Amino acid sequence: MDELVRTIDSLVGPDIHPLANLANVAAALYTSLERVNWAGFYLLDRGALWLGPFQGKVACTRIEVGKGVCGTALARDAVIVVPDVHAFPGHIACDAASCSEIVLPLRFGGRPVGVLDIDSPVPDRFSEADRDALTAIAAIISERCDFSQLSYDLRSTL
Ligand code: SME
Repeated sequence: MDELVRTIDSLVGPDIHPLANLANVAAALYTSLERVNWAGFYLLDRGALWLGPFQGKVACTRIEVGKGVCGTALARDAVIVVPDVHAFPGHIACDAASCSEIVLPLRFGGRPVGVLDIDSPVPDRFSEADRDALTAIAAIISERCDFSQLSYDLRSTL
């Protein structure tokens, strides 16, 4: 996990568009982590979490704040590790193969702006060491991504 944190530390930059940063992090996580069937982001916009850059099977596009593991992690502003998704009340099943999950909040300007979500087809996949390394990765993203660039502006500069 130390090498993965170093890789992501070298990939994510403040001058890179936040969606480009998140797309590369999703790819790095998905291709480096074993026993993972989904890795990606949900981003807060107009009061709901919307599907962001990810790797894995197609997923639900909108999650209400406070719903599912993702919406609960955002509402509590806390990391949630779910050893058995079938035992988590309100878990949203995007891929029937998922058995365990970890969700980490992302922050911008001190406020939650989205979550990093990783699913595994294996029960109890995420250890304390995984949680610590992924917390470091979420901190790198929170510190370096300029999420203010995500507001839509359709005015052309051309
Ligand atoms: N399981 C999540 C939904 C997102 S998918 O896992 C990609 C949840 O309960 O919030």
